[in-house]
Amino acid sequence: MGYNPRLPLSKESISEQETSLSDANATPVQNDQTAKRKILVTSALPYANGPIHIGHLVEYIQTDVWVRSQHMAGHECYYVCADDTHGTPIMLRAELEGVTPEQLIERVHAEHRADFAGFLIGFDNYYSTNSAENKALSGGIYTRLRDGGMIERRTIEQAFDPVKEMFLPDRYIKGECPRCHAQDQYGDACEHCGATYDPTELINPRSTLSDAAPVRRDSEHFFFRLSACREFLEGWLRGAADQESPLQEESRNKLDEWFEGGLRDWDISRDAPYFGFEIPGEPGKYFYVWLDAPVGYMASFENLCEREGLDFNAFWGPDSDAELHHFIGKDILYFHALFWPAMLHHSGYRTPTRIHVHGFLTVNGKKMSKSRGTFIMARTYLDHLNPEYLRYYFAAKLNNRVEDIDLNLDDFINRVNSDVIGKYINIASRTAGFIHKRFEGELCAALDEIDLAVLRPLQTAAGAIRECYESRRYSEAVRMIMELADQGNAYIAEQAPWTMKGEDQTDRLHKVCTTGINLFRLLTLFLKPVMPKLASEVEAFLLIGPLSWADADSLLLDHDIEPYKHLAQRVDPKAVEAMVEASQSSLPAAQPEPVDEADPDIEPFAETIDIDAFNRVDLRVARVVDASHVDGADKLLRLIVDLGGGEKRQIFAGIKSKYSPGELIGQLTVIIANLAPRKMRFGVSEGMLLAAGPGGEDIWILKPDSGARPGMRIH
Ligand code: MSP
Ligand code: ZN
Repeated sequence: MGYNPRLPLSKESISEQETSLSDANATPVQNDQTAKRKILVTSALPYANGPIHIGHLVEYIQTDVWVRSQHMAGHECYYVCADDTHGTPIMLRAELEGVTPEQLIERVHAEHRADFAGFLIGFDNYYSTNSAENKALSGGIYTRLRDGGMIERRTIEQAFDPVKEMFLPDRYIKGECPRCHAQDQYGDACEHCGATYDPTELINPRSTLSDAAPVRRDSEHFFFRLSACREFLEGWLRGAADQESPLQEESRNKLDEWFEGGLRDWDISRDAPYFGFEIPGEPGKYFYVWLDAPVGYMASFENLCEREGLDFNAFWGPDSDAELHHFIGKDILYFHALFWPAMLHHSGYRTPTRIHVHGFLTVNGKKMSKSRGTFIMARTYLDHLNPEYLRYYFAAKLNNRVEDIDLNLDDFINRVNSDVIGKYINIASRTAGFIHKRFEGELCAALDEIDLAVLRPLQTAAGAIRECYESRRYSEAVRMIMELADQGNAYIAEQAPWTMKGEDQTDRLHKVCTTGINLFRLLTLFLKPVMPKLASEVEAFLLIGPLSWADADSLLLDHDIEPYKHLAQRVDPKAVEAMVEASQSSLPAAQPEPVDEADPDIEPFAETIDIDAFNRVDLRVARVVDASHVDGADKLLRLIVDLGGGEKRQIFAGIKSKYSPGELIGQLTVIIANLAPRKMRFGVSEGMLLAAGPGGEDIWILKPDSGARPGMRIH
């Protein structure tokens, strides 16, 4: 096969590279490498039932940086992705929102696209798994697996919800732990004592959908015979003789563990009702979402091929000499490193060249959390901060291992301000002004040795930096780039162009500033995979075409540039604070002031109330009969509640961060029925909904148990 893996530099060659950075006489390496590679790249397909958050972005930014570096090397590289749209959670979510699954996934698709565009993720195609291409490809793969004897039918007994009339995935069953007797534990594992078990073992199990006791029911399922794939997978994992293993070491070790434990056949079918593709020839049976999800990579690419006249088989056919790279998080390794290559192999397609696995994002050292304001949506970040700064920060942290990475918000501010502004942009802002003030916007035609000596190490380093991108050692790339920027700044400080005022110094001033611009141009080239928008602004400022790796071999001399305008702003710590605040729990409805944005007169709660005051509060059970969004309100939903006997009230409640209108309809809740009506910006609120919790995702409306009826008073 034509894949020519770029082996990571050995320790020795890295340190050689590093010494040569300060060796002024090194000859620039040739950065114009001609062997053109054909590469298809994917990121995991985000689920279509929720928004993109900054944890997801670790992956999309990591992938996008890699792809951009390939483009700068002149390789033919495509980057495809899609929404992962099938499965029970999406079906139920649509039901709760009172829309069809198709409507739900269409809305989310538009949101995801906009978020990714905001972060400059340059997909060649962003598609959907609910597509004609995917249906045909998934069906075709299944048929080939079946005809090749890789599919087995087995009747299994499963939990069935007799009210919802559907089989229940484990996570929709709760009950008492058979071991420690903790209440309210999920069907597969106890969060209290850590026991894992079968949902049948739960004591007093309940469907979380209907609260009914699940019954046992038989159903025929289809299994992919993964147990028969061990030998193939072990060979694939070792890699062909001329290739690297498709997985980094940590992931290989994980797979070894799985091999040791024995590979179990994989249940690829689900019974109706299910939102997904019906299995060919098997009415009422659907592909489990994880069967058609990775096929979504192929489908998205096929859709791109149709649009751009590319050859699908050149990338997916068994004899493909293209490279296929998947970027994924560590949580979905099993699917990508076992099922996926085995499925591809046994259905006559090529297998992945590499699976690049990354760790999870923590914020300020902890799991992202709503209440701490660190569960930050892509959109919320974009509302407050420059997307390229997050790209820079992630790049500065990412390496080729499976480690988790931390976004420390103070460090983020310092790092961006000191590196991007203080080191990189600073080089332009200290030298560019003179070019127009003194030299009519023109760079000089030749430099002195002292100037060339500061530029050469950058030209030499280009190859090593590019290697760092190639092998996903981005943090190392960033460290090298910033060291070079430091050397550039030291040169400028030493030359001190601002002191060169005399006639006799004009020539040196011109050369120093021209050198400054060349430093800036090379640093821009190196940072371009990470900050592509800033790079294109620099290209416009320098009146040059798109920078590619080969451009590191040349300097920009005897050339007109545009007047310098400041290119980047410092991160304002207040913007970070505002972002955290916006991500944080909006306060629950029980605290009126922040919810009722139009009514500043409402008193905050008094310290205590006496029993008489309490007795005057009319708490009543109500049923939500209608719920809708309120145009222009961030936190509010408009609810119509039924107090029994046909008495209806309109209530505005600040619970939008947790509940979508659809999921509230039909719910019972407790309201304060005798609160004086309040005029709010959006209408009159005729009561108050009781909710608990710090806010955000952590708000619960109180649901009285099933004995409650609308209109009941609470004493
Ligand atoms: N739909 C599946 C993938 C199917 S691929 C054929 C899925 N979706 S996801 O939305 O949950 O995650 C998408 C990607 O984002 C995964 O690779 C996942 O590991 C990654 N991340 C989600 N949350 C993350 C963090 N907090 N940190 C880093 N990556 C994270 O899995
Ligand atoms: Zn337990």
